[in-house]
Amino acid sequence: MADFDSPVTGKSYPDHPSAETPRARGDKITGDRYWSKDFAEREWEKMWKRIWHLGGRESQIEEAGDFIVHNFKHESIIMVRQKDGSIKAFFNVCLHRGNQLVTAPEGGVVSHFTCPYHGWKWNMDGALDWVQDEEDFPQGSPCGKLRLKELRCETWAGFIFWSFDRDAPPLQEYLAPIPELLANRDLHNHTRVVWRTLRVKTNWKFASDNFNEAYHIPAVHPQFMPMIDDHYANTLFEMYPSGHNRMIEKLQPSSRAPDAANVKPLWAEVLREWDIDPELYEGRAQDARVALQQARRQLGPKRGFHYFEKMLDDELTDQIHHTCFPNLTMTGTPEGLHIFRTEPDAEDPNWSTFDYWYLVPPIEGASEVATLYGMRPYEEAGHETGSFDNYRTEIAQGDFLSQDLSLAETQQRGLHSMAFEDAYLAAQETRVRRFHEVLNDYLEGRR
Ligand code: FES
Ligand SMILES: [Fe+2]
Repeated sequence: MADFDSPVTGKSYPDHPSAETPRARGDKITGDRYWSKDFAEREWEKMWKRIWHLGGRESQIEEAGDFIVHNFKHESIIMVRQKDGSIKAFFNVCLHRGNQLVTAPEGGVVSHFTCPYHGWKWNMDGALDWVQDEEDFPQGSPCGKLRLKELRCETWAGFIFWSFDRDAPPLQEYLAPIPELLANRDLHNHTRVVWRTLRVKTNWKFASDNFNEAYHIPAVHPQFMPMIDDHYANTLFEMYPSGHNRMIEKLQPSSRAPDAANVKPLWAEVLREWDIDPELYEGRAQDARVALQQARRQLGPKRGFHYFEKMLDDELTDQIHHTCFPNLTMTGTPEGLHIFRTEPDAEDPNWSTFDYWYLVPPIEGASEVATLYGMRPYEEAGHETGSFDNYRTEIAQGDFLSQDLSLAETQQRGLHSMAFEDAYLAAQETRVRRFHEVLNDYLEGRR
């Protein structure tokens, strides 16, 4: 399907000239990185204070005065839609005597945030407009003088990001080249149909490590093998100078399976859904991937998947994992975008929060959409929160997040052992070490 090849590279997946084959210096990955309070403190000072943080979706704050709150470590950030349509981010702290201005995770104000303690009224643009007994301040009225402390706030693709660092590079520059690699998806018009936050007893870096390799798939997610090719020889691994990485796994039976040529029931089901006779591919099951691309190309728009028209061939089948330094993974599939984000606990490096969002593009005529949790209404999801322990009992076994997070907890325990001195990595795990090296670059002043 030459028409859909990328005009720049001739490749059938989005590509960028800055892509490099992953290589690493060889910095050690020691256990203390995952549990030492001192290490966590250095991460806070040297890294978390400088990066861009994903704060939410623009669709959460459509009207002027709508706000959302993002708590990160011991800080709390308010993002609020302005009258001119822009979004500002403020520290959620009243500059009178330090009370938190808002306690709700989201909401709306008509014009002002009123501090619950002494009633100071802060305009949604950050100005202080009213205080009680204004004349009683010998140093002069604070109105017109004080402003809420503002943070950098920028948007991309319907996502709101903020940064503590006044001198951070522009968001798009920070994320580069991820926005270009995701450019065939109109992410601003996607709907977040799953929004879940879990508290997990593991360090936040577990998820970055985990999404930087597919080596764990045969042992942890055997259910993927009939239709995801986790073999490194068929997987694309890339890293970018910005510190972000990518991995593309093909949608086809795993090449490591001795019977990879056989069509398994799961794969047959997918093919049938797109009017492909699985029998035709018996004995050469992996060839069906290209047939599936062609079928989706031809039938997709008729079935309401108009967005397929903008996608390159490989985007119509494959799993494209973008690991954005430090804590954000965006996995594009033909069906939607999976977002995984981990954040450190305020006090204890042995705990973190794990967020999973699932965003889907518009599909004409669809009122429901398939998710990890079964069919869900095609609408913005409410926030589901809880502990991983509760999640594990409530969610069916075999869910890939349960599988990954169970390992996250046992690995966290193992990393406390004095016997663990460094990881012994396969080549296909090079991005794991690379992630730690980028982190070290922050901690040691090279970034
Ligand atoms: S602390 Fe906010 S008005 Fe006093
Ligand atoms: Fe996994």
